[in-house]
Amino acid sequence: FSETVTEQYRPEYHFTPQKGWMNDPNGMFYLDGEYHLFYQYYPDSTVWGPMHWGHAVSKDLVRWEELPIAIYPDSLGYIFSGSAVYDRENTSGLGTEETPPIVAVFTYHDMAGEKSGATDFQSQGIAFSVDKGRTWTKYEGNPVLPNQGIRDFRDPKVTELIKEDGTKRWNMTLAAQDRIQFFESEDLKTWKFTGEFGQSIGAHGGVWECPDLLSLTAPNGDQKWVLLVSINPGGPQKGSATQYFIGNFENGTFTPDDTMIRWLDYGPDNYAGVTWSNLPEEESRTLFIGWMSNWLYAQVVPTTSWRSAMTVARELSLIEINGVLLLKSAPAKELESLRGEEITIDKTSNLPSQAVEIKLELDGSDNFALVFSNELNEKVSITKEMGLVSIDRTYAGNEAFHPDFAAMHSAPMSWKAEDLRIFLDACSIEVFVNNGELVMTSTLFPSSPWKKAAFISGIENASFFDLKK
Ligand code: FRU
Repeated sequence: FSETVTEQYRPEYHFTPQKGWMNDPNGMFYLDGEYHLFYQYYPDSTVWGPMHWGHAVSKDLVRWEELPIAIYPDSLGYIFSGSAVYDRENTSGLGTEETPPIVAVFTYHDMAGEKSGATDFQSQGIAFSVDKGRTWTKYEGNPVLPNQGIRDFRDPKVTELIKEDGTKRWNMTLAAQDRIQFFESEDLKTWKFTGEFGQSIGAHGGVWECPDLLSLTAPNGDQKWVLLVSINPGGPQKGSATQYFIGNFENGTFTPDDTMIRWLDYGPDNYAGVTWSNLPEEESRTLFIGWMSNWLYAQVVPTTSWRSAMTVARELSLIEINGVLLLKSAPAKELESLRGEEITIDKTSNLPSQAVEIKLELDGSDNFALVFSNELNEKVSITKEMGLVSIDRTYAGNEAFHPDFAAMHSAPMSWKAEDLRIFLDACSIEVFVNNGELVMTSTLFPSSPWKKAAFISGIENASFFDLKK
C-alpha cells in the first residue's frame, strides 16, 4: 500500500482505482451514510477493454474505499455506463418491502455483434442489490430495453418522476447517437418510448453519450430541467466534453428554452459526468462527479499501474448572469474537511505539498495571472485577459505522449472574475472562478511536483490549505 501512495501522479484526494483502467463514473447513489461510486473498469490492463463496473464508497465524498468489482460482463456483453436508483417501494419486485432493492440500469455492449457488422449490439439491462450495493444479481429477463435499430444506444440515466397527475414513474434518459431519447416505466423492467430531443440542436461534433436529467430551481424560483449531454469528439478544447441544455421536461420529452450551446466545464478533462441519486432530502443539493480525462489521450497518459482519476465532487446549481441561466459547479463542501491550517501567502510562495487548495481574492481589475512551477522550470499558468480565462499547459512537463496535450485552453467569461479556488493534485488542476460560475479542469503531468506559486497580477489576497491527508 505505501508503495502506491508514493507512486508518481497518484492523486492524494481524487479517486483512482488501485490498479487497472477506469473511465466514466456510473450508478452513483447514496444510501445509509454511504456515497456509492461505480465506474467503467477494466481490471486487467491500463487501457480500455471488457467493461465491468468497479465500485468505491465514501462517507464524505473525499476519502474513498475501493470495494470488489460490482458487475461483470456476461454472455450479453460488456457492462457499459449507466445509473442506479433506490427502488424504495419495490416497484420492480426484485427486493422485498422490508428490503427494497437498489436497481442498476446499464448498457450491454455485445462485442461479437459489433464485429459481425450488426448495428443492434447495444441494449439496456438491469441488476439489483439488496445488501447496500455489495453484491449484484442480474435480472433474468435482460435485456429490459432491446436495441431499436440505432448503432449508439446507451448510457441510461434513470430518475424518479412525479407526473402531472401525481403518479410516480421511472424516466430513462438515453443517448441515441445524435439525440436523447426518453423512456418511461412503472417497474424498471418494461420501458415505453415517450419522446426524443436534440437532433437539430446543440453541439454535434461527435456522438452523444452519458446524459443526465436534473430538476433545479432557478434564482427567480422557477423550476427548470437541465439536460447534460457528453459528446465525443467535438468539445470546445478538442475531444470529449459535456454540454447542457436548460428548459422544461413535460409529457415525456425535453424542450429547451433557447438554442445556446453551454459547456459544463471549459477545461479539456471533465467527461461523462453525472449526478448522484437518492441523496437525503434535507440535503437538497445536486452532486456531480466527472471522469477527469479526455478520449483524445486517455489511454496514453503517463501513469503506470492505473489510468484515470475522477474530478472532485461538485455541487450543481443554476445561476443567472446578464439575463442568461447557467450551471454553476462549486466544489462539494466536504472538500473543506481536507483542509489543514489556512496559510496566507505572498507574491511568490513555496507550496507545502502536491495536494493543495489555493484561495485567491482578485483585485477587481478582472484580469489576473498566476503560475505554478517546479525546479525543472516546467510550469502551468492560469490567466484572465480580454475576457478569456485560460490554463496554459504547453510547458507543464510530460506531454510527448500525444500531440494535442501540450496546449493553452481558453474559455469566454464576459462577467467579472472576483475570486478563485484552485485545486492541485498530483496530476490535475481544477480552477473554480467565482466558486464555480466558470470551471476549467485540466490534467497535468509535471516531471516533478509543483513547488512554487507566483502571483503575477490581479491578486489582492492569497492563501492556501494543505490537503494532504
Ligand atoms: C463514454 C463511453 C460511454 C460508454 C462507455 C464505455 O466515455 O463511451 O458512452 O458507455 O464510455 O466504456
